[in-house]
Amino acid sequence: MAKTKSSFFCQNCGNQSTRWLGKCPACNEWNTYVEEVIVSKDDKKKGYKKGDKAVSPKPIHQVDHEKEERITTRSVELDRVLGGGLVTGSIVLIGGEPGIGKSTLLLQVALNMQGIRILYVSGEESHRQLKMRADRIGLNNPDCYILNETFTGEVFRHIGELSPELIIIDSIQTLYTDIIDSSAGSISQIRETAAELQRFAKTTNIPVILIGHITKDGTLAGPKLLEHMVDTVLQFEGDRHYGFRILRSVKNRFGSTSELGIFEMQSTGLREVTNPSEILLSQRDEETSGIAIAAMLEGQRPMLIETQALVGPAAYGTPQRSSTGFDLRRMNMLLAVLEKRSGFRLSAKDVFLNIAGGIRVDDPAIDLAVVAAVLSSADDQPVGNNICFAGEVGLSGEIRAVSRVENRISEAEKLGFEKIMISKYNLKGIDKKKQKIEIIPVASIRDVVKLLY
Ligand code: TYD
Ligand code: MG
Repeated sequence: MAKTKSSFFCQNCGNQSTRWLGKCPACNEWNTYVEEVIVSKDDKKKGYKKGDKAVSPKPIHQVDHEKEERITTRSVELDRVLGGGLVTGSIVLIGGEPGIGKSTLLLQVALNMQGIRILYVSGEESHRQLKMRADRIGLNNPDCYILNETFTGEVFRHIGELSPELIIIDSIQTLYTDIIDSSAGSISQIRETAAELQRFAKTTNIPVILIGHITKDGTLAGPKLLEHMVDTVLQFEGDRHYGFRILRSVKNRFGSTSELGIFEMQSTGLREVTNPSEILLSQRDEETSGIAIAAMLEGQRPMLIETQALVGPAAYGTPQRSSTGFDLRRMNMLLAVLEKRSGFRLSAKDVFLNIAGGIRVDDPAIDLAVVAAVLSSADDQPVGNNICFAGEVGLSGEIRAVSRVENRISEAEKLGFEKIMISKYNLKGIDKKKQKIEIIPVASIRDVVKLLY
């Protein structure tokens, strides 16, 4: 046994220090240093070592570049987010808050992938709990094996015996390796176990999916460093009070990071939502003020989403500004532009903004709908439920062109909208005759106000 050594690690980013620090110099977080016992380098004899065989450098033109092999997960949504399926030998991290449905999603995927031998390693739930969950989901797959184990040595032994074609680890925070003495879930354990799994995936070409917990403030617990080690990071998110769950790709070495998968949590597991617009538009018969529909794009997928605004006189001194699903700073900017460029007095008003369905939106094309919803609520006049919007608002009040406007237009048309308001600068390249939907071009905020009222 080598001399026991200890070191301090930042639990946020994994930075190491020989002494305790109040503020991490790497990520600037406070109070994140925890002492962990480590063992000196020369004691690292155990663990998964096959990958350490010598490799020599190769001229780049001699490297085979055949397309990476992908395994379909039989889930349209998951495949899309992954960029077309699981790449063999890749390591995927799925992060999300507790109870959001990570285990459900992956168990469901495992049960669905018949004909592929899968090892589901669970350090969190017993066989019985997993079986109960499988029964609830209502699927059965004889090729799906469950293992209750948290020690990586044992996990690798079982992998050797079973030779699975896909490995799911639920969760990386429960695993531990005996190379290091600190407890499971600590930074050094996460780093070491993830490194072992990474070496394993790269040498055997077997894909590994890791589940990772997220801390309260929304970052992966510990794993800033995990994000660097894996090939793909997916974020599973959603408001727990809504049924909808969104799977977002944050990092992907084998595909785009703008893709999005949508699921709905039901009593029998997760249902894939292939037509998101239907769920994101709330059903209403009468016209209400403060509501505008945005034609936006998430990844490659156009979808229509409802933005709701409530504008009222501020009851107390400082007006309240609050937004759900939309960046608050951007909302404040849009309000300032509205005030300056259209003469709308908003500075003494409370403004609340909500994106329906518990979704968080990044597409700037939603700006125009936000502006329309705010105007509509301020004036208490409905914009009408046959119109939707797609445009970015600039600081001088200009309405800017958005990407792939044709896709947005055809999605709006498909869903029965009669009018769509877009930027004037988006007009070229659009064949107006092809579309039945009426296109309303606008150049500035003033045009929008004039056209709506
Ligand atoms: P779970 O997958 O355990 O979450 P995580 O692994 O991310 O912590 O999800 C648990 C939640 O999902 C729990 O609150 C119950 C709910 N659920 C359903 O609504 N329907 C189902 O079929 C299943 C299996 C779970
Ligand atoms: Mg779980």
